[in-house]
Amino acid sequence: MSAAPSDSDAAIEASDLTKVFGKQRAVDGLTLTVPRGAVFGFLGPNGSGKTTTIRMLLGLVAPTSGSISLLGEPMPSALAGVLPRVGALVEGPAVYPYLSGRDNLMRLDAADVRSDAATRKTRVASALDRVGLGHAATKKAGTYSLGMKQRLGLANALLRDRELLVLDEPTNGLDPQGTREVRGLIRSLAADGTTVFVSSHLLSEIEQVCSHVAVMSAGRLVTQGRLDELRAAGERRLTVTTPDTDAARGVLTARGLAPELLTADAPDTVTAPLPAGLAVEELTAALVAAGVRVRGIAVSGETLEDRFVALTGEGFDVAG
Ligand SMILES: Nc1ncnc2c1ncn2[C@@H]1O[C@H](COP(=O)(O)OP(=O)(O)OP(=O)(O)O)[C@@H](O)[C@H]1O
Ligand SMILES: [Mg+2]
Repeated sequence: MSAAPSDSDAAIEASDLTKVFGKQRAVDGLTLTVPRGAVFGFLGPNGSGKTTTIRMLLGLVAPTSGSISLLGEPMPSALAGVLPRVGALVEGPAVYPYLSGRDNLMRLDAADVRSDAATRKTRVASALDRVGLGHAATKKAGTYSLGMKQRLGLANALLRDRELLVLDEPTNGLDPQGTREVRGLIRSLAADGTTVFVSSHLLSEIEQVCSHVAVMSAGRLVTQGRLDELRAAGERRLTVTTPDTDAARGVLTARGLAPELLTADAPDTVTAPLPAGLAVEELTAALVAAGVRVRGIAVSGETLEDRFVALTGEGFDVAG
């Protein structure tokens, strides 16, 4: 790396970031911290401001107000020094249609004054292989499918080792196999110590690889944090199936739970929100000790998807 490493812990810090288009606040007072080494999922429905945020982070569009620091350097003043340390894939990567995929990358790499011409050919070949385009390397990029163009854009971001990768919907246009490959790629980049900031409108596509997430809704941040903490914050619910519902309710109430009223469609079940710190095995033992004939006992958690739908107030992949 040519730039001196900074001692800031955060790979990305945005403070009160706002972008107004005409009357619309596409991004509204966004404050975001992306720790170094994180795989940070930037989630939100269509139109919630993800691409606009990413464009601001990369200095492609000026914020209306607010401040950004990237890899510890203030943006946009340190842009020229910071950008070479950042790989990016932004919505709709441009290609030269009459050049092959390989020649597109050769040309993009040659335009980068910091890249090493001696290793260019091997770096291009390895980036194409990493995104599964090795077999189509000599095909004209203009004939590539949407998913292949997306892979080419991703390969471009991988031409050199970077401290930070910013990927705007990298799975856009990819088939399920391609989506899995992108997840694998993100995992291997993260294992090498690269911080990855990745946007998606589909939680399920990136949930498995993220250490952190932020959720946008209509230009505003609705939550951010470690994924495991967000998961833990979801409500757990206990369901006991038994013919002895009254006795079961008594046992649970005595242990501080608040069983809900029986429903006609499930007359032999007792359900209650399960407070943190209460062990199911102890509740089971208490039920059995009290003579409750337990046919089944289960704990269900609110899924992260449920939680995000609740937070964004709409279906996760519905246009905003
Ligand atoms: N150049 C622009 N001029 C005017 N409005 C814009 C411009 N760019 C974005 N917007 C508006 O800002 C809002 C946020 O758009 P943005 O592209 O950031 O959303 P997104 O979260 O990336 O959506 P998607 O999931 O569809 O990619 C949208 O309502 C969009 O119409
Ligand atoms: Mg977008």
